[in-house]
Amino acid sequence: MKTAILELLRSRRGQYVSGEELSASLGVSRTAVWKHIQSLRQEGYLIDSRPNLGYCLQKVPDCLFPAEIRHYLNTKLLGREMEHRQRVRSTNDLAKTLADQGAGEGLVVLAEEQEGGRGRLGRHWVSPAGVGIWLSVVLRPSLAPVQAPQLTLVAATAVAGAIEKATGLPVGIKWPNDLLVQGKKVCGILTEMKAEIDVVHYVVLGIGINANLNRDHFPVELQDSATSLKIELAKEVSRARLTALVLEELERSYLLFLEQGLLPILATWKGYNVTIGRMVSVTSGHQRFTGRAVNVDQSGALIVECTDGCTRQFHAGEVTLKQKE
Ligand code: BTN
Repeated sequence: MKTAILELLRSRRGQYVSGEELSASLGVSRTAVWKHIQSLRQEGYLIDSRPNLGYCLQKVPDCLFPAEIRHYLNTKLLGREMEHRQRVRSTNDLAKTLADQGAGEGLVVLAEEQEGGRGRLGRHWVSPAGVGIWLSVVLRPSLAPVQAPQLTLVAATAVAGAIEKATGLPVGIKWPNDLLVQGKKVCGILTEMKAEIDVVHYVVLGIGINANLNRDHFPVELQDSATSLKIELAKEVSRARLTALVLEELERSYLLFLEQGLLPILATWKGYNVTIGRMVSVTSGHQRFTGRAVNVDQSGALIVECTDGCTRQFHAGEVTLKQKE
């Protein structure tokens, strides 16, 4: 009901809608309308009310409420169901719990703040309240478990496209999943799955976008290597609008991947690539290799011509880009 009231006020933005009209068109009492308006105000919606005129929506909060995202969203699969929390330990953890309980493909879990946001390799992911896009998507693809890491490239390509569309900023992808603006990290992707030897039960794609963080939201040791869209643009972005774009691009890339495999995605990925052609060091397990990244093959693996003369294929690992020669 609250969402219906919001939609009606939104469709008449800047105009006053009488309590009588709201109650008649939604089939509830005027007292119920008033209670929902109060609750919307508590959530941060600025709604003016005037005797004899009614209610007027003046400002919507910058938040990840499903109603705000749905307002912009044009997808069939991703975001049909959304779970929003003010604060969670990690959206990936909540998404996995819901997937274990049977959540369907396309469920999106969103949080304003993560107390225990997780990055790759057990790292902490800085996730302060009200400034980032911290979300996880549940997918149930019919894939062999070895193919699941390819979804990271699918997601990275989709998010890079969404950020470029929304902001016009040039985005680079450092293999496999770091999105960079001006050489600094603006987004990370954490892909987790539940699988048996030959079948994937579900995949959770966790996406963290540093949308409106300020420099001092990052710990000092990250301030030179991390950035946000707000820092780069010198203005805030609408998190709800960007989230909708991310889900749209992700749905498009995911369906293309299921239909045609990684090749068409790789072609787009390579357009964002900042890894191939560079001197890199790759940490894989306990070993570290140095060399020139020469390609990403059809399986999504990074190919490096190492300084010891061997060409190696990496399916996972942490890449550091060396200074340009
Ligand atoms: C990385 O680059 O190391 C991956 C970072 C992934 C962060 C996102 S934020 C939403 C989701 N929930 C988490 O706990 N992590 C991912």
